[in-house]
Amino acid sequence: MNVDNRYFWPHKDLLDVTQLSGEETLRLLDLAARFQDINRRPVKKVPTLKGKTVVLFFVEDSTRTKTSFDVAAKRLSADTYALAKSGSSINKGESLKDTALTLQAMGPDVIVMRHASSGAAEYLANLLDCSVVNGGDGWHAHPTQALLDCFTLRQAWQGRFTERAVLILGDIAHSRVARSNVHLLAMLGTRVRLCAPRTLLPAGVDNWPVEVYSDLGRAVRGVDAVMCLRLQLERQQAGLLPDLAEYSRRFCLTADHLALAEPGACILHPGPLNRGLEIADDIADAPASLVLDQVSSGVATRMAILYLLATRRDKDVL
Ligand code: NCD
Repeated sequence: MNVDNRYFWPHKDLLDVTQLSGEETLRLLDLAARFQDINRRPVKKVPTLKGKTVVLFFVEDSTRTKTSFDVAAKRLSADTYALAKSGSSINKGESLKDTALTLQAMGPDVIVMRHASSGAAEYLANLLDCSVVNGGDGWHAHPTQALLDCFTLRQAWQGRFTERAVLILGDIAHSRVARSNVHLLAMLGTRVRLCAPRTLLPAGVDNWPVEVYSDLGRAVRGVDAVMCLRLQLERQQAGLLPDLAEYSRRFCLTADHLALAEPGACILHPGPLNRGLEIADDIADAPASLVLDQVSSGVATRMAILYLLATRRDKDVL
């Protein structure tokens, strides 16, 4: 593959989208589009990262992010090794620091980490010489999800992020996906609305570059995309969510709501889905739903991220 090898990616790690400029973001998304072409070929493998090693260090559950990074690395011919909490010495009480130093001693080029604590990826990045990618840390950030969401929207919107509006709907308070998406979409010039019960809005939301709604019918009017979020039942504190039936009556996205959006508006959801709770069953499978496009965009976007990080120090890139 022919990549502009005069370009130097300035970041050792990808910890959050806040570290990226608009230009860097678009460059990364352009590169992802070229990797997506490879993913459409009958033989979906190139030797670009042959000899590089990617460790998947997932201390919290994951289906999409972990598999997507694994597929992305393998499509580029990198070797991958997975370490999960269960079956590792973390279960014997080993500290994050000792586990990380042990992994680094095996010489990986990139470690992708998911962890339940906000700031865990940054802690690792400051400790290690190899690149660290944040695969989701607590409620804090999920940069690769926001990048793949913007990649998906860029394709659906024929490249234009300005004069567009996105509604992010649901459990914003516990969502690292919402935090990273709000920042990235606002930076790219898209208007962002949030809709959630008051108890599921984060503290300090008044300082976010968003419009906040509590009525879904009003929030959805005229938007170009709706991003539904999973109700994070495992992260709820007592009292935040008294009644699931009431939640779904007021905040579950249905065909009636979608009829109020712009014609052709698309639906996103990072997955996993609680069907019937935050998104109606038929809407999740409707033609306007880009949920599975997000998954394929995720592979291409993560190929671009691994490529930029794993080759940034190479003199001869290809
Ligand atoms: C998200 C996550 O883990 O933050 N899922 C994902 O990465 N695809 C959202 C969620 O769990 O609800």
